[in-house]
Amino acid sequence: MRLYSKAINMSYVKEIAKIYDYLADRYDYIYQSPVNHGENRVVFDLVEKHMGKSILDIGCGTSLFLEYLNPSKYLGIDVSEKMIALARKRYPERHFIVGDMHNLPLKDETFDTVVSLFSCLNLTLTPKMIADEILRVLKPGGHFIGTVVGLRMKYNILAGPKDHDWRNIPITYYTQKSIKEAFGFEELQILGLNYLGNLFEKHERYVNNEFGLLGRTAPDLARHMIIIGRKSLSTV
Ligand SMILES: C[S@@+](CC[C@H](N)C(=O)[O-])C[C@H]1O[C@@H](n2cnc3c(N)ncnc32)[C@H](O)[C@@H]1O
Repeated sequence: MRLYSKAINMSYVKEIAKIYDYLADRYDYIYQSPVNHGENRVVFDLVEKHMGKSILDIGCGTSLFLEYLNPSKYLGIDVSEKMIALARKRYPERHFIVGDMHNLPLKDETFDTVVSLFSCLNLTLTPKMIADEILRVLKPGGHFIGTVVGLRMKYNILAGPKDHDWRNIPITYYTQKSIKEAFGFEELQILGLNYLGNLFEKHERYVNNEFGLLGRTAPDLARHMIIIGRKSLSTV
């Protein structure tokens, strides 16, 4: 990457860290709707299915992950110091570090499973750089599970975040095609989650039912796209 784009990337990451430092105290409260719970349930069932012994949680926030699952080895990383402070307070026995997903301060081939849940991977100008970092720290044969938002969220149909105006911040909105281009996984599955957005705010079960019926048809139109990737076993 050329030097000037590195500098742009660094100031972008600083800007994002500031936003999450600002949101941190309200973050858990904001994502408490029945729809959020329904989405979490679907995503964590999938994570559990692919979970190895050691987990890296990129953009862990206050660690929603540990609310749902209890892995033996867990490391949460986040660029926001305030989010990490809250995570440490909630889970003092667990490991958390402040760091940037574009340049993970971690050794190659360390984790059985890497997760990045609920849109952290959208907060970049250089998605390929993050995809390469994820592959680097995954052990051969390890799994990645991530959820990102696509064009559906860009146009804010039925689903936009209510708390903060993201329209002023450049965000990478993914498509199935751009995910396939960025991630060099040996196996890659992309699923759609929640086509109805916030329409059934009181009925989290619709999120689950709908996933069963439609989840495999049109991920580009869903509120979240779930990426399930497996790194090749061979290192050649
Ligand atoms: C929408 S929140 C999701 C938090 C958590 N995964 C969850 O599901 O509740 C996105 C998180 O990504 C973090 N983040 C954004 N850019 C990052 C970066 N470059 N490196 C590490 N974390 C980042 C933010 O600070 C924030 O905590």
